[in-house]
Amino acid sequence: MPDSMVVVSRCLHVLGAIALLGGAIFIRYLLTPAADRLPESERDTFRGDITKRWKPWVHAGITVLILTGFYNYLAVMLPLHKGDKQYHMLMGIKILLAMVVFFIASVLPGRVAAFATMRKNSKTWLTVSILCAIAVVCIAGYLKVRGVPANVPHPAVTPPAAPPVPPDAGDSPIPQEAGSTTN
Ligand code: HEM
Repeated sequence: MPDSMVVVSRCLHVLGAIALLGGAIFIRYLLTPAADRLPESERDTFRGDITKRWKPWVHAGITVLILTGFYNYLAVMLPLHKGDKQYHMLMGIKILLAMVVFFIASVLPGRVAAFATMRKNSKTWLTVSILCAIAVVCIAGYLKVRGVPANVPHPAVTPPAAPPVPPDAGDSPIPQEAGSTTN
């Protein structure tokens, strides 16, 4: 019987990913081209309305993904993947790409003046964040299916370390040749 906390955190993680990535794809490839066909005055009002409604979804999605992601990694997966260098390297890349997605998703509906150029090129940046999020899902899918490789020492089956051998005065580290004398 799986731990219910692990199941709940996995479900929330996948739901967060669906909401953030699905929303970004919808805005970039359906809503933006449709809004571009509106007269300029209506377009700005429409965009402002969508941005106001999308913002809380972005904040909720990021919070859920960070909380469930770090719980999943540190409490669930880390003990299973001790010494599994490839797992941690790919997970590190996944987390970095996720941070890029979170940054773009927070900046585009925001109002910080320093990021006005990014908002002006919002189509390009939305595409960049969608591509990064797709890479994140692909890495996650690979890590899930790959499991724990057989050559990784599992904590449960690693033999205990041999006790230290006490130094013995009679055992010289330099082997002596038969018949040789030391004067
Ligand atoms: C753009 C943000 C993110 C997306 C789209 C995303 C997506 C996914 C998906 C689809 C899975 C597979 C779920 C499953 O098969 O049960 C997953 C697994 C996972 N994610 Fe994320 N994730 C994101 C951010 C994060 C962050 C910030 C962390 C933080 C550490 C994280 C940690 C994990 C872990 C540990 C797993 C389990 C991997 C395994 O099965 O070995 N994720 N993620």
